[in-house]
Amino acid sequence: MDRVRNPFNPGAGTRPPLLVGRDPQLEAMTVAIRRLALGRFERSMLLTGLRGVGKTVLLNEFGSIAEREGWVRAHLEATEDIRLPTALAGITRRVLLELSLKERSKDRARRALGVLRSFIKVHVPLGDAGTLTIDFESYPGQADSGQLDGDLAGLFTELGETARAAGVGVLITIDEIQYLPRAELSALIVGLHRISQLGLPVLVTGAGLPSLPGLAGEARSYAERLFTYVNIGTLDPPDARRALVQPVEDEGASWHAEAIDLALRDTEGYPYFLQEFGKQAWNVAGGPEIQPTEMQSATTLAIDDLDRGFFRARVDKTTDAEREYLRAMASLGGSGPYRSGDVSRRMGKRTTQTGPVRDSLIKRGLCYAPRHGELAFTVPMFDAFVRRSL
Ligand SMILES: Nc1ncnc2c1ncn2[C@@H]1O[C@H](COP(=O)(O)OP(=O)(O)OP(=O)(O)O)[C@@H](O)[C@H]1O
Ligand SMILES: [Mg+2]
Repeated sequence: MDRVRNPFNPGAGTRPPLLVGRDPQLEAMTVAIRRLALGRFERSMLLTGLRGVGKTVLLNEFGSIAEREGWVRAHLEATEDIRLPTALAGITRRVLLELSLKERSKDRARRALGVLRSFIKVHVPLGDAGTLTIDFESYPGQADSGQLDGDLAGLFTELGETARAAGVGVLITIDEIQYLPRAELSALIVGLHRISQLGLPVLVTGAGLPSLPGLAGEARSYAERLFTYVNIGTLDPPDARRALVQPVEDEGASWHAEAIDLALRDTEGYPYFLQEFGKQAWNVAGGPEIQPTEMQSATTLAIDDLDRGFFRARVDKTTDAEREYLRAMASLGGSGPYRSGDVSRRMGKRTTQTGPVRDSLIKRGLCYAPRHGELAFTVPMFDAFVRRSL
């Protein structure tokens, strides 16, 4: 069928033609934003889930909700070498500069920018500070003690009070949270907890792999009070069916019953795979009804495409030792989790010898430990990929 009109969208964070199965989270975010706008406390959400289940798409939707409610949104994507103080200073600066243009909040924003300037002096390494110039006088004493948690609380207070003066709120979305250094994530949570009683319109929400850094002590108990942990997973069969059927029907085409069953079976309800298989099926089909034989060809193309893109991208930067470990995992059969001891044994090594490789795979976000002594892939159906092409 006409490729130009193909509705499906496999990609990182790309909006699907139809966002199904996420209404509870969308509603919870709308409620949280409206409650905060009234100065009432509401827990925010931390989304966790495997690769390609739709975490980023959902965070983007949260951002759109915030904008519809008249809030300012700020987005941050963590990476393996992120420095949280620098990143937060960057988005705070952007939001405050925006609010400094409003008549109602310009004076409050100036003071806040002065506080930010002091924060940067203490917490941002000189090499990073170049892009963070601020033309307002420093305002010492609010966020420059050197203690990151307290200083973040000071900074968020400035941000929240400025937003309130402007009659808006601020939603900060943080993607790929698993990459945040544990100490910095703890400081962020302790800082947020300190301001949670002030009724300021600042909300932080985030998403990451199931390997979110394990928090300790007060940070853990505060995190439980501040956030609901929401696991984002596969779509249930009726939702998965809707995600494939409706976009096709909206374009005036349809699925043969057997063709859609094949697609649903092979994608197992994983959002990324639904988009990929749907896209190939559309392109292969002569139309207007997608036939079972066409779906079979589409499946081959889809797996090819996944192997060259979605899966391959994950292993591109891995070392030989890491690949050897991945192969040993997959060779144990099934989709995991695997016992670390079994993986080491398969490699003819002791667990203490393979520990560093295992840790680096977790750090890269390729694996996570669902339980002590166990290891699983963060990418769905990765075991089969490793067996067929690594
Ligand atoms: N609810 C949904 N219904 C249908 N398709 C969806 C849904 N959510 C996401 N998708 C599609 O799934 C794909 C992956 O989405 P997204 O990039 O948000 O996943 P992710 O969880 O952030 O993955 P990663 O961990 O790799 O960053 C996109 O092509 C998107 O269009
Ligand atoms: Mg993502």
